Amino acid sequence: MRIWFFDSGLGGQVVMAEFQKEFPEIEMILEMDSANAPYGHRSGDEIRMLTIAWVERLHARWADVVILACNTASVYALRHLQTEVFVGYHILGVTVPWAEAVVDGGYHRIWVLATDATVRSRMYRERVNILDDSIIVEEISAPWLVPLIEAGIISWPEIDTLLREYLAQFSPDIEALVLGCTHYPLISDSIEHIWMELYDKKIPDLIDPGEEAAMKFRGWMEKKGY
Ligand code: DGL
Repeated sequence: MRIWFFDSGLGGQVVMAEFQKEFPEIEMILEMDSANAPYGHRSGDEIRMLTIAWVERLHARWADVVILACNTASVYALRHLQTEVFVGYHILGVTVPWAEAVVDGGYHRIWVLATDATVRSRMYRERVNILDDSIIVEEISAPWLVPLIEAGIISWPEIDTLLREYLAQFSPDIEALVLGCTHYPLISDSIEHIWMELYDKKIPDLIDPGEEAAMKFRGWMEKKGY
């Protein structure tokens, strides 16, 4: 089996690494659209168009499965790709597995940090509430983290300054924080550190969509007969 991962940028490495940990025997390749990143600043139509163009290219190179590692691309393009453009192909995203993990974890109120485009879509709330409409989902957009991370800045004071502004919008008594963009696990140490600085306590459970998707993938393979 060969899996092609697609992400707007560096975050794809984080997701692919989670899959490599779980499935060292599978061939995996990552494509990044660094020229057009960040996607999080773009309109839904642009994100959908760019993602479709990449998936077309990936399929032309015989992928058994394409995984949209990018949350923003998953939110705007996945359903459209699966139901209208590449019907019958294996194209998966990363947003459903973490929504299931939230329900399975018994959380009642979760907060999500994500790109501006993802938050604008309100899709995360929908994904969780389709499974359990009693769970409250609050979303905070963090528009400037990805451009810095793409520039290779992952532990500089600029990241801490932005995190202070974004994390201060959370409620200190949240049960879980979803890292709703593939780039954010790259700065999880800073997230934990700034949380402690702001609220004087350890950060609550962190949910990483890439990790959740990798854990759920075995079940998917068995269902499809791989
Ligand atoms: N990697 C993308 C995600 O998971 C966002 C990065 C971007 O804005 O391009 O949402």
